[in-house]
Amino acid sequence: MTLESGDSGSLSQPGVLADIPSHARYLTFRRRASTPGPRDALERLADPHPGRPLVFGLGSSLVRELGAEVPGLRDFPASSGPGFSVPSTPAGLWVWLRSEERGELIHETRRVEKTLAGSFALDGVVDGFRYRTGLDLTGYEDGTENPKGAAAAEAAIVSGQGPGLDGSSFAAVQQWVHDFDRFESFSSRTQDHIIGRRKSDNVELKDGPDAAHVQRTEQEAPDPPAFLLRRSMPWADARRAGLVFVAFGASLDAFEYHLSRMTGAADRIADHLFRFTRPMTGAYFWCPPLRDGRADLGLLG
Ligand code: HEM
Repeated sequence: MTLESGDSGSLSQPGVLADIPSHARYLTFRRRASTPGPRDALERLADPHPGRPLVFGLGSSLVRELGAEVPGLRDFPASSGPGFSVPSTPAGLWVWLRSEERGELIHETRRVEKTLAGSFALDGVVDGFRYRTGLDLTGYEDGTENPKGAAAAEAAIVSGQGPGLDGSSFAAVQQWVHDFDRFESFSSRTQDHIIGRRKSDNVELKDGPDAAHVQRTEQEAPDPPAFLLRRSMPWADARRAGLVFVAFGASLDAFEYHLSRMTGAADRIADHLFRFTRPMTGAYFWCPPLRDGRADLGLLG
């Protein structure tokens, strides 16, 4: 990996800008009480993982415990709208394992757990996967309007803020659970009007309602535009399924703008997505940049 000044994409954890893999695992860790400080465990996690790309991020409680400050990192704001709530479920540390082989993720989980053992306890494991060509489990393509190339790096990666921060990313992560019976009870026209795109050919509806998801989250509508790099993937366990929504940003502002539009905070128009799906979790993380091939924890003191 080359480090070129002015190209902050080259300083980011590679999994941030890469396409979504076939399989993923989302791990959340909490600090073990009465154990040594987290610094050594984090330094071990920061070491290179050749051939095993993972993305990790720290929550604000962990950053505070280290006596550090990451400008722009804050707690996920809980909110609500008509008939639904958007919870805030902060976590200390988030690790996104990525692979083309599901079996590798089992071994990776054990390896990361051992790397962090002593200071962190594994709190949550969510299994994600790519559905067909990158669809949400409702059958709609997810990620169509993502910025590409240099625009993706500009949206997702911090630049011009100085060493330690440049090349890093802020991640917003929410686990949504879908009610498929409810979704399937809608006609295909209503389903298209919920999303704001036609499932059959992915074309955006010209006459979509104001509450359609893509109307709520139009990235070019605000000034300045609110671009996000979404890297969401379907998830499932034995009984439930939905979407792990992950958005990377150079700040958390664009995500918060879209989320408040979705809840109808200003205009009382709630996103039609809430007719069939609900977020169960919501957390923010700061994903450190890379330096000399390993994660750079310099900002953390
Ligand atoms: C269960 C949850 C969600 C599902 C199933 C979902 C699905 C979709 C789909 C199918 C699209 C249209 C294709 C595309 O451009 O990707 C889309 C667009 C988009 N979504 Fe979501 N989404 C979810 C949650 C969210 C959340 C929580 C946010 C941000 C707070 C968000 C932000 C966006 C944005 C910015 C776009 C692009 C809109 C545009 O510029 O046209 N989505 N989403």
